Amino acid sequence: MDAVLRARLTSLREEGRAIWHRFDSDVRQLRFHPFIPSDYERVLRALLALRGPGLRFLEWGSATGVVTIMADLLGFEAYGIELDPDLVDIARGLAERSDSDARFAVGSFLPDGYEWMSDTGDARLGTIGRGASGYPELGRCLEDFDLVFAFPWDGEMPIMHDLMRRRGGSGASFLLNHASEGIQVYRRGKRSTAEEDWNLGN
Ligand SMILES: C[S@@+](CC[C@H](N)C(=O)[O-])C[C@H]1O[C@@H](n2cnc3c(N)ncnc32)[C@H](O)[C@@H]1O
Repeated sequence: MDAVLRARLTSLREEGRAIWHRFDSDVRQLRFHPFIPSDYERVLRALLALRGPGLRFLEWGSATGVVTIMADLLGFEAYGIELDPDLVDIARGLAERSDSDARFAVGSFLPDGYEWMSDTGDARLGTIGRGASGYPELGRCLEDFDLVFAFPWDGEMPIMHDLMRRRGGSGASFLLNHASEGIQVYRRGKRSTAEEDWNLGN
């Protein structure tokens, strides 16, 4: 990574963390909100290991946009979908200040027509919110993405795996920031690599 890119990524993460602290005191101290940021350093290491020419990246629940913008700065064609329109406004402003082409849509990462049903017949989505699908605004469908990233709450993972299996691209990778097990990559429903496999140096 050259020094200029490294500096841009550092300043993006610093601004992202400052936005998070403001959001936490202004919003999350008053009411529940599902936005909690992932560990940006660890996600950056994963993106560095997975980047490649011409790859298209999607973040499910992109919040303030930091991860999607990092992906864009690393050369992915990067998109984010987020249900909360105020967070999407923040993400678009951050992308502009970061001189990034990352694109964001307000809406749900659940595509039209997708219905979840657990093995026990439970159709509840838990902390995954409901809303109009965000894919039409992006002009893309889930199948178009090579790499999909998410930082799920407990209980969201089975739904996300099911969605990738049923509607994701056949060669797509699913990058998951697992709250307790760290960062893992899945292909066709099977774990392929995890952060301990990446030796990127500095
Ligand atoms: C745990 S946060 C992760 C934020 C960000 N991806 C990161 O890693 O820093 C989950 C985000 O998903 C959003 N969200 C919840 N349900 C959603 C849905 N159906 N479609 C899009 N975004 C959703 C929440 O508003 C929240 O911003």
